[in-house]
Amino acid sequence: MALKIYVLMTINLFSIFFPLANSIDFSYPAVFNFGDSNSDTGGLVAGVGERLDPPNGQIYFQKPSGRFCDGRLIIDFLMDAMDMPFLNPYLDSIGVPSFRKGCNFAAAGSTILPATASSVSPFSFGIQVAQFFRFKARVLDLLAKTKKLDKYLPAVDYFAKGLYMFDIGQNDLAGAFYSKPLDQVLASIPTILAEFEAGINKLYDQGARNFWVHNTGPLGCLAQNIAKFGTDPSKLDELGCVSSHNQASGLLNLQLRALCKKLQGQYSDANLTYVDIFTIKSNLIANYSRYGFEQPITACCGYGGPPLNFDNRVHCGQTKVINGSSVTANGCSDSTEYVNWDGIHYTEAANQYVSSQILTGKYSDPPFSDQMPFLLKLKF
Ligand SMILES: *[C@@H]1O[C@H](CO)[C@@H](O)[C@H](O)[C@H]1NC(C)=O
Ligand SMILES: *[C@@H]1O[C@H](CO)[C@@H](O)[C@H](O)[C@H]1NC(C)=O
Ligand SMILES: *[C@@H]1O[C@H](CO)[C@@H](O)[C@H](O)[C@H]1NC(C)=O
Repeated sequence: MALKIYVLMTINLFSIFFPLANSIDFSYPAVFNFGDSNSDTGGLVAGVGERLDPPNGQIYFQKPSGRFCDGRLIIDFLMDAMDMPFLNPYLDSIGVPSFRKGCNFAAAGSTILPATASSVSPFSFGIQVAQFFRFKARVLDLLAKTKKLDKYLPAVDYFAKGLYMFDIGQNDLAGAFYSKPLDQVLASIPTILAEFEAGINKLYDQGARNFWVHNTGPLGCLAQNIAKFGTDPSKLDELGCVSSHNQASGLLNLQLRALCKKLQGQYSDANLTYVDIFTIKSNLIANYSRYGFEQPITACCGYGGPPLNFDNRVHCGQTKVINGSSVTANGCSDSTEYVNWDGIHYTEAANQYVSSQILTGKYSDPPFSDQMPFLLKLKF
C-alpha cells in the first residue's frame, strides 16, 4: 500500500506542476449516469430483487452495497472528486434516496442493444434513457406542485447544466462472443453504436449539453473471458489476455471515438468528452507492480485457485454444490493487492487508480488540465 500511495502522489504532483492547456469546469450541479456494472451503484439488485453476498462491499461499505466490487467504483471516486455525494440508483425505492445531485440509471449486465430473454439485465441503454425521461417528467411535475421536495430533487436547470455520463458497451461484446465468431462480433459494432447514438441524440434533443463518455476496457483481460475463451494459449496475447476480445474492445473504442467526434461536430452548443479507459486499464494490467499491485488478472474473490481463481458456476460470495461437494467463492486476504475483484469487475484499489488517471485529463479527448482542488480531494 505504501508504494501505491507514493506513486499516485507523484503522478498528482507532477500534473499539478505541469498542467495541460485546456481547462474543464467540473462544477456541475448534478450527474445523470447510464451504464452497466462498471458504474452500477445498486440499480440491478434493486431492479431485479437480486442479492449480492459478502465480501462484496467489505472494504468500504462494510456490507454489500449493490456494487459488484469490494468497495467504491470509478463513478464514486469521480463524484467524490467533484465534491458530490454518491449517486443513488433510479430503481432504489426504499429509504429516502436523494436525487438532488443526480441519479444513476446504470444496471449491471446492461447492454446498449435491447435486452433479450437471456440478458442479465432488462435495463438496456434504451430503457435507461426512457427511465431518465420518466424521472425528469416526474421531477418537473413534483417541483411545480410543492417546494417540500426541493432538497431531494434536481432543480429545473440542473437538467441542462448537469453532466451526462456513459459507461456501457462491454456486455454487448462479451455476450456476443458466446454465440458469434470474431468477424461477426466486429461486424456488429456499428449496429451497437447506432443504438448508442440514438440514445445520446434523444438526450441532447431534450436539453442535455454536457456529455462524458467512457470507452470500454480490455475485455479479454477479465478472468471470466480467459477461463472460457483462453484455454488455448495461442488465443492469448503477451499479457495473458484473450486477443479476440481485446481486438473487439479496441474496434468498438475506435468507432466510439469517431462517433463522439462526429456528435461534437453536430452539437456546437454542447461539450462532449471521450475518456480512454482502455488505455488506463491496459497500462495497469501490464505494469501492475509499478502501481503497487501484486496480481493483475487473478480474481481476489472467487473459486478455483490460481492462475485465475475464477469458476463461472460459483461467483464471489456464493456457496454452491459442485461435483458433490459444497464450495464457496471467498475473498482474498488483501484486495488492495489485486486489480481484479471477482473475475469480471475491478477492485476498489484498481478503480481508485483508474480514477486518478482519468482526473489527470491526459486520457480524454479533448484533454483537460488537472483541477488541483479535485485531485486533492481524492482520498488515499
Ligand atoms: C463548453 O465548454 C466551453 C469551454 O470550456 C464553455 O465555455 C462552455 O460554456 C461549455 N458549454 C456548455 C454547454 O457547458
Ligand atoms: C507499460 O509501461 C511501459 C513503460 O512506461 C509502457 O511503454 C507501456 O506502454 C506500458 N504498457 C501498457 C500496456 O500500457
Ligand atoms: C469432478 O470430480 C472428478 C473426480 O475428482 C474430477 O475428475 C472432475 O474433473 C470433476 N469435475 C468437475 C466439473 O469439477
